[in-house]
Amino acid sequence: KHSADHFSKLQSLSISSINGQMKLFVSEGNPHCLKVLAALEVTGVQCDVQYVNHEERVVPFLSRPALPALLLPSGLHLFSSNAICRYLFEIVGQDSSERCNQWLEWEATDLQPALLQALHMAVLHGKGSEVSKVLQGPLNYLEQSLSKGNTPYLTGEAVSVADVVLWAALYPVLSDSSLACERTSVKAWFDRGAVLHSCESAAQKVLQGKGLQGMKSYMQRQPAPQSSQSRDTQPCNSNPAEVSRAVSEEEMEAAALTWSKGLNSCPLAADRQHPILPHEGKRNLLVTSALPYVNNVPHLGNIIGCVLSADVFSRYGRLRGWNLLFVCGTDEYGTATENKAREEGLTPQQICDKYHAIHSSIYKWFQIDFDFFGRTTTEKQTEIAQDIFWRIHKHGFLIEDTVEQLRCEKCQRFLADRFVEGICPHCSYPEARGDQCDKCGRLINAVELREPQCKVCRQTPVVRSSKHLFLDLPKLEPQLEQWLEKSTSTGDWTANAKQITRSWLRDGLKPRCITRDLRWGTPVPHPDFKEKVFYVWFDAPIGYLSITANYTDKWEKWWKNPHQVELYNFMAKDNVPFHSVVFPCSLLGAQDNYTLVSHLIATEYLNYEDTKFSKSRGVGVFGDMAKDTGIPSDVWRFYLLYVRPEGQDSAFSWADMALKNNSELLNNLGNFINRAGMFVTKFFEGCVPAMELQQEDKKLLALVGWELQQYIQLMDKVKIRDALRHILNISRHGNQYIQVNEPWKKIKGGDTERQRAGTVTGVSVNIACLLSVMLLPYMPTVSQTIRDQLNAPQSCVNTMLQGTGTFVCSLSAGHRIGTVSPLFQKLEVDQIEALKKRFGGQQTTAQRASSTQPAAVPAAAAEVATSNGVDPEKAKQLTQAVTEQGEKVRALKAQKAEKAVITAEVAKLLDLKKQLALAEGKSSEPAPQKGKRK
Ligand code: 2FM
Ligand code: ZN
Repeated sequence: KHSADHFSKLQSLSISSINGQMKLFVSEGNPHCLKVLAALEVTGVQCDVQYVNHEERVVPFLSRPALPALLLPSGLHLFSSNAICRYLFEIVGQDSSERCNQWLEWEATDLQPALLQALHMAVLHGKGSEVSKVLQGPLNYLEQSLSKGNTPYLTGEAVSVADVVLWAALYPVLSDSSLACERTSVKAWFDRGAVLHSCESAAQKVLQGKGLQGMKSYMQRQPAPQSSQSRDTQPCNSNPAEVSRAVSEEEMEAAALTWSKGLNSCPLAADRQHPILPHEGKRNLLVTSALPYVNNVPHLGNIIGCVLSADVFSRYGRLRGWNLLFVCGTDEYGTATENKAREEGLTPQQICDKYHAIHSSIYKWFQIDFDFFGRTTTEKQTEIAQDIFWRIHKHGFLIEDTVEQLRCEKCQRFLADRFVEGICPHCSYPEARGDQCDKCGRLINAVELREPQCKVCRQTPVVRSSKHLFLDLPKLEPQLEQWLEKSTSTGDWTANAKQITRSWLRDGLKPRCITRDLRWGTPVPHPDFKEKVFYVWFDAPIGYLSITANYTDKWEKWWKNPHQVELYNFMAKDNVPFHSVVFPCSLLGAQDNYTLVSHLIATEYLNYEDTKFSKSRGVGVFGDMAKDTGIPSDVWRFYLLYVRPEGQDSAFSWADMALKNNSELLNNLGNFINRAGMFVTKFFEGCVPAMELQQEDKKLLALVGWELQQYIQLMDKVKIRDALRHILNISRHGNQYIQVNEPWKKIKGGDTERQRAGTVTGVSVNIACLLSVMLLPYMPTVSQTIRDQLNAPQSCVNTMLQGTGTFVCSLSAGHRIGTVSPLFQKLEVDQIEALKKRFGGQQTTAQRASSTQPAAVPAAAAEVATSNGVDPEKAKQLTQAVTEQGEKVRALKAQKAEKAVITAEVAKLLDLKKQLALAEGKSSEPAPQKGKRK
C-alpha cells in the first residue's frame, strides 16, 4: 500500500520529461547490478537497460571498468550503485533522508566488505557455513535497529531507497534457504512483499535463476577479499554494545548463583478464596476498570483501554503475591440506554439484561479474569448512591439552581439536547440540534432554538423551568488539591492523567449538575426532587462501590480503608476528569473515610487502521466479532497489548497483526520454546540433561536476568506494552544462543561436545519455562500450554517474579518434560486480506452510505456521490445495504415502532436506493412512489 500506488502516481508526473534519455549499463552475475535493477523496478522509472560484459569500459574516463553505470540525460555518468539507486528515487520525488543516507553509507562501508567476503567463501569455496559467521556483526546490527525502530521499513512506515539497497545487497544470502537467517526482525523485513518481488524479478535477470552460482564468473574476477581470519577476530565496526549489552564478570557470577538456588519450596498460592478482603501486612490492591456503557458492544479500543489492561495488571499482581481484587461491571443508567431501548423496541431493563450478557460473554472470550463483574442497576447502587448523596447534602456541598429546559408534553419527557431540532438562532440553519449547529458550528442552548421540535414525535416542546442540584466543586477544591498533590506524587498516574487533571484545575472548577429529568436512573431521594434521577456521571463511579458490595458484604473493608488499600483505576483518557476530579469530590464531600484513587492509569486512543472505530459507520472490530475470525484469544490479547496506546495514540492494523504474529510469536517466541523442548525430546529422551555452566551460559543467564528485571520494573509501573518487549528480547537471546551453539550438531560429536549440547539444551528449556511465567498475564492459555508441555512444577510461577526477579533453574537435570508441540500458527496474507475486507470494507461502505451525518462520511460515500459512473463493486455493497435497511424498516413496522422513527429509517432506505441506482448506472431519480411526496 505504501510504496506501490505512491510511486505510480508520482511517476506519471515527473518521468515523461526524461523518458528514454537515460541508459543503465549492467552485467550478469554482478550483485551491485541487482540493487539498481531492483530500484528501477520499485520506482518504475523508465530507462534503457543494456547488458554488457564485466570488462566493458562504459565510463570512458575511469581507469577500471565500473558496473553498473547510469548515463544521465546530461551525458554525465553515475557509477556507484548506491548513488544510482538514490538518483532513481529522487526522480520519483523521494529524496533520501539523513537516516536513509546513513544506511547507504553503512551498507557501503560495513556491510559490503563482509558480504563480499561471505559471497567469496560461499560461491568460490563452497563454504556456505562461513556466511553466518562473517555476517554476524552486520546482521545483528540490522536486527537490533529493526526491532528497536519498530517500523516496517528501515526509515519508517514506507519503503525508502535504503530498504531497496540493503534488500538487494542481502538478497543472495537471505533468499538462499541453506543460509537461512535466524534474526526475526531481519527476516520479517526481508519477507515484506513490496520490495521482495522487485528484487526477485531483478535477481532473475542478474542471476539467471542460478542462485549464488550465477555470480561465479563475476566473483572470479574480483580481487580476493580480506582474509577470513582477520575478519573473524575483529568484530564488525557497528557498535557491539548495541548488539548485545555488555555483561560484567560479577553480573555473570551473580546470575549463575541465583540460577543454582532453584525453586522456592514456598507453598503454592492456593486458588483464590472468595471473598478476597484486605489483610494487615499485605499489599492490598483494589483494581477497577472503567465500567463500560451497557448500550453498546465494546470495540477493540474499549477493550484494550480498560478491561484488558486491568486484567494483565491484575494477573501480574496476583503472581507477585499481592492481595488483589479486580472488579468491573456494566454502566447501565442514562439517556443512552433509554434511547437504545426505544431503537430496539425493548424496555431499558431488557436492554440492560441483553447487553450485560453480551459484555460478559465478550470478556469471557478475551479471558478477562474479573473477581466480580457486576452492574449498576442494583439495589446496592441505590442504597450507596443515596447514602453518599445525603452525606454530601448534610455537609453542605450541594447547591440548588433552576434550569430552563425543553419538555415534550406528548412524549411526556424533558428532552436531552440532542433530541431537539430547530432553527439555529445564529445562522438560521433549519436543522440545528439542541446542542450544536452543524452549519455554523456554534454551540446552542436548546431553549434558544427557533421553532424547536421533538425529534421523536415532531411536536413543539414547551419551555419548563426545573430545579436541579449541583455539586459545589469550587467549595471542595481546596480539599481536592491537597489530596491530589499527595496522590499524584506518591502514586503512579500516567502523564496524560496528570495533565488532564491539571488543566481542569487551571480552568477553575464550576458547580456540576448531578440530577436529571429522566426515568432510567438512580432516584434522587430528596423530596423536592422526586421525579429526578442522578446524572450518570455522578452515579456510575459509585458503581465501583456497589458492585463490590454485591460481591461481598464486607465491601467497606475495601472502600473505607484508605490506609490499607491502594486503588488502581484503569480507563481511557476521556474518563480521566471524572475519576480525578468529580468523583473524588463526591467522596471527599461525603466525608466517610473513603478509599480514593492512588494510581490512575489512562490509555490514549487506539485507532482502526488509519481511521477511528465507529459503531455508527460499522468501522472496526468489535468484541463479539473477534472470535469469529478464528484467531485465538491469546493472539488477540498479544497484539492489542503489543500496540497498547501507552503514552501515545496507536493503531490496530490487520497487516501489522499478521506481521507481529508471524515474526514475534511464530518465528521468535514460539520457535525458541519449541526448539528448546524438541531438543530435550529428541536428543535426551524427554529428560532435561545435566548442565555445566560455562562463561557463555552465565553471560546468557545474566542477559536474561536483566530482561526479567526490566520487565518487573516496568510492570510494577503498569507499563504493560513496554514490559512485553522484554519478554520478546529473551527469546531473541535464546534463539541466538541456540544458533551459535548448534546443539543439533554437537549431539553427534564426542563426549565434551555432547555435554555441551546438554548444557545448551538444559539452559534453553529453563528459559522457556521462565518465558511461560512472564507470559502469563498476557497470554494465559499459551502460558499454561507451555508449562503443560514442559511438565513444569507449579512453584516456578511463584518463584521467578518475587522481589526484583530471580531467574532460577526450575527444570533440573533428570526432570521429565511432556509432549512438545508448536504454539502458534502462521497468519496467511489472503486470510488477513479477507478479514480486513470484512471489517473495514463492505460494512463500512454500506453503513457510510446510509449515514446522515456529513462529517462522518469521508472517502467512500463521497466517491459514491461524485464518481457518477457505474461501479459494480459499490453496487454490490449497496445492494446488501438496501436489503439490510429494508429488513430494519420491516422489523420496526412489525414492532409498531413510533411513526417518526419509521419515517427516518424509510428516508435512509430511499437514499440508499438512490445511490444504488447511481452505482448501477441507472437514473438517480427514485421510481415515483404512490402516495408519497418528497
Ligand atoms: O466511558 C464509559 O464507558 C463510561 N461508562 C465509564 C464509566 S467509568 C465509572 F465511572 F463507572
Ligand atoms: Zn415528543
